[in-house]
Amino acid sequence: MQNNYNITGIRNHLLKQLSENRYEHTLGVEKTAVSLAKLYNVDIEKARVAALLHDCAKNLSDDKKLELCEKYNIEVTEEQKKNLDLIHAEIGSVMAKYEYEIDDEDILNAITYHTTGKPNMSNLEKIIYVSDYIEPGRTKAPNLDEIRRVVMKDLDKALYMILSDTINYLKTSKKYIVPTTMEAYEYYKNILDTTGEINMEKNTDNSMDLLKTALKALDDKLAEDIQVLDIRDLTVIADYFIIAHGNNKSHIKALIDRTDEVLSKNGYEPKQVEGYNSASWILLDYGNIIIHIFSKEDRLFYDLERIWSDGKKIDVKSLIED
Ligand SMILES: [Fe+2]
Ligand SMILES: [Fe+2]
Repeated sequence: MQNNYNITGIRNHLLKQLSENRYEHTLGVEKTAVSLAKLYNVDIEKARVAALLHDCAKNLSDDKKLELCEKYNIEVTEEQKKNLDLIHAEIGSVMAKYEYEIDDEDILNAITYHTTGKPNMSNLEKIIYVSDYIEPGRTKAPNLDEIRRVVMKDLDKALYMILSDTINYLKTSKKYIVPTTMEAYEYYKNILDTTGEINMEKNTDNSMDLLKTALKALDDKLAEDIQVLDIRDLTVIADYFIIAHGNNKSHIKALIDRTDEVLSKNGYEPKQVEGYNSASWILLDYGNIIIHIFSKEDRLFYDLERIWSDGKKIDVKSLIED
């Protein structure tokens, strides 16, 4: 059956239920969730409904919250009794089911787990969790810019970063950490560890070999002004950036082709290649190492070396000669 959600009806209802700020936040989550749904092939209408309803119980009075818990048999723990806001996600989910007549389990779960996360989340659940944290109205959390960048490439990594920052925040402010949040954190840490997405220490040797091989290939093809930035202390995006430029489009493409070929022979395949056709800024992403080959104009214009000037410059010559 085609989705047939009454989005306008839901929005109008929320407008009456939520405070002005909460409504604004909700629209921000909707916008973010829809854009992530497009990116990760999730049903856009489902993402929209889950985002709109995720905080539908947030502004209810404590009495009303308790009444709904009783009515729908939601167990309230001692911890939640002290702060009923902790249970707004579960109440929101039953309201979505019984008052907004949403019967899609994935939507209902996305609402239930939007504050705690859980192990093995569906893409829709991840999208709502992440969108709640990064929507444009959010400004205070640390690493927001970085998480917003990472989520465009890796939903699990963004999810992990948020779980990690949330746990740090709860620990330092001595607040209660829901066990499900710790379980989710451990779960995604494990997944990213095994896929090599985090834990830089383990991958250093691998990074260095890849780095040298790439640099030699670029040098062979006469890449201009090759620079390497060690950005391990600055970001989880990568360990190193290789930056260089070519003299014209065919030179730039030749640099990329040669590097790709040599690395491939050594068992390294790029996760992503971007900008190959326009050939003014081509990016080869090997996870730990990202290679940026520019035209001279684009290199000056985007000026990655300045943006990442807190990174450590590595002596390229010694690596090539090594
Ligand atoms: Fe919420
Ligand atoms: Fe929210």
